[in-house]
Amino acid sequence: MLTSGELIALEDRHTSGCYQKRPIAIVRGKGAHLWDADGKEYIDCVGGHGVANVGHCHPRVVAAIREQAERLITCQESFYNDRRAELQAKLVRIAPPGLERVFLCNSGTEAVEGAIKLARLATGRAGIIAARNGFHGRTLGALSATWRSEYRQPFEPLLSGFAHVPYNDLTAMEETLDQDVAAVILEVVQGEGGVIIGDGDYLRGVQGLCRERGALFIVDEVQTGFGRTGRMFACQHHGLQPDLLCLAKAIAGGIPMGAVLLGPRVGELPSRVHGATFGGNPLACAAALAAIRTMEEESLPQRAAELGAYFLSRLQGVDSPLIREVRGMGLMVAIELKRRANPYLAALMERGVLALSAGPIVMRFLPPLVISAEDVDAVVERVAEVLEV
Ligand SMILES: Cc1ncc(COP(=O)(O)O)c(C=O)c1O
Repeated sequence: MLTSGELIALEDRHTSGCYQKRPIAIVRGKGAHLWDADGKEYIDCVGGHGVANVGHCHPRVVAAIREQAERLITCQESFYNDRRAELQAKLVRIAPPGLERVFLCNSGTEAVEGAIKLARLATGRAGIIAARNGFHGRTLGALSATWRSEYRQPFEPLLSGFAHVPYNDLTAMEETLDQDVAAVILEVVQGEGGVIIGDGDYLRGVQGLCRERGALFIVDEVQTGFGRTGRMFACQHHGLQPDLLCLAKAIAGGIPMGAVLLGPRVGELPSRVHGATFGGNPLACAAALAAIRTMEEESLPQRAAELGAYFLSRLQGVDSPLIREVRGMGLMVAIELKRRANPYLAALMERGVLALSAGPIVMRFLPPLVISAEDVDAVVERVAEVLEV
């Protein structure tokens, strides 16, 4: 086995360069713990960027992948398949009411891309309203809905017809949502944007405006979905009934998958209007069924609500002049600092805790929902150490 240093040198030789990498090579995971190639153990509060909700290598997910890999790995959606049929039914059962059809794809950006296309198709309109500070992915359609100029500017011109309005500001939405708008796309909690929590009245207000003015309401739960915020979907905190719900990340226990759930206002879709070769492949569907069953049987959304509240209250007790605010929903937790977050994330990593940023000054914690209270205590202790001045 190569050491971390050797693996880093090897990967650095041929990697694209698109990622800002951290200097450790992760080779093994179990639950909320990861190990690097030198055997050092970490408490994982990155969770594969919000993917590993059921924990790394959950035995049920591992068994489902193994069993399905021996039976059938690929089957494009022009044929029917047992696992896909089961998964579509399962997603509809757990989703907010009214979302009765499912388009399966392979990532978050692809789910958003599909939702934008289908909203334009269903309404015959071109406009899309997104929120300032929002993040929806990096392919050209999703990127057009994403806010930060760092991501957008090198690729301009992006798609036309996109507008960005301030988040949690219903008046701005009212002024912008006109007869040319096909859809509004929003996150329930802006994740990459700094863990900014959407206000329930605002989100319901936007949904009402969409209904009134003939636009569709797209909710992007790529990051908040599957228990992260303390309910299976963050929409459920506010009684939202989106017309299109975008999902990905945690859906399949770590196997790449995305989905768009479709409500009645999307209408009938003509065949061949959209598609994806790998969409709904049986291996990912089997993994998703196992992951969702695990979330239900281990009551992971409820666990996220309880442990998230505990985590938040412990962090709020950390006395450091570097902290501007601690906020979160379920196990989507953030500390906004008065300084840049990266040096403190590096110091946490030194102490065996992996966490991520959300913009320049926010430390973000997206642990697997199976993390123990003892691990949360250990994380808080180390956060207090690195933020001590
Ligand atoms: C809310 C949201 N939408 C879309 C995406 C894009 O997902 P992916 O990286 O799988 O394309 C992300 C990724 O972080 C996200 O947080």
